[in-house]
Amino acid sequence: MNDTLVSEDNAPFRKLIRPVVKALRTAFIQGTTVVKLMPSERAIQLYYKYRRKSYDLQWSMDPGYRKGLRRLVDLAVEETDMVLDVGCGTGSATLLAAARCKEVVGIDLSPDMIELAEEKVNKKCIGNCRLIATSVEDYRPDNSFDKVISSFMIPHVKPGLRPSIYSCMYNFLSPGGTVGLFGSRGEVCDVYETRDEIKDNLTRAGFEDIVLYDVYDIYRIAVAKRPR
Ligand SMILES: C[S@@+](CC[C@H](N)C(=O)[O-])C[C@H]1O[C@@H](n2cnc3c(N)ncnc32)[C@H](O)[C@@H]1O
Repeated sequence: MNDTLVSEDNAPFRKLIRPVVKALRTAFIQGTTVVKLMPSERAIQLYYKYRRKSYDLQWSMDPGYRKGLRRLVDLAVEETDMVLDVGCGTGSATLLAAARCKEVVGIDLSPDMIELAEEKVNKKCIGNCRLIATSVEDYRPDNSFDKVISSFMIPHVKPGLRPSIYSCMYNFLSPGGTVGLFGSRGEVCDVYETRDEIKDNLTRAGFEDIVLYDVYDIYRIAVAKRPR
């Protein structure tokens, strides 16, 4: 299996407060184990119907999350790209990508999250962004994409089904296209994938040249290629 790990955990940082920040982040991310209580698509939709208003506020509490999203877009998205954001939620990564690429499509299972994303797009008068309420499994795009990005969607997928979701992402990409994933780490919280799991799942879906970036104490970005 060809892969590379880039650990940025020891990047310069205010050394004294670092252990405290890491402990706070770890406690925060444990809250996302709530996804275990959502056994179906309907349950996920209901959860986000009531959760959507506080969603952005909660995540904005950790600057590491915002920085991680920007890093994902820096690593994966280029000016001429057609980008798909899978499980786009309120559009946090979608909007960052829109500022950087030719066109971006955001898809999400929750119509309520899509509605919030639409409000943001309209408020900021963003013209190169389309949002669609659909599951990744049901999405049938008219065109293929240069890049697929996805942030914090995979914990909603049961571990055994993750390779099939990565296969969908693979099929959305043009040959030579790149997938960029952002989330936390299975080593920190068990609803995420460990290093070995993410490499294995991406490899099973056909991806190669997998690079994992361990960033901001508890977060991880994975970038991989669909072969040409
Ligand atoms: C934790 S939120 C992440 C939202 C956004 N990507 C972010 O980083 O803020 C997970 C999102 O994935 C969506 N989702 C879960 N399962 C999905 C599926 N099978 N297809 C599409 N979206 C899905 C949920 O509706 C939710 O909006």
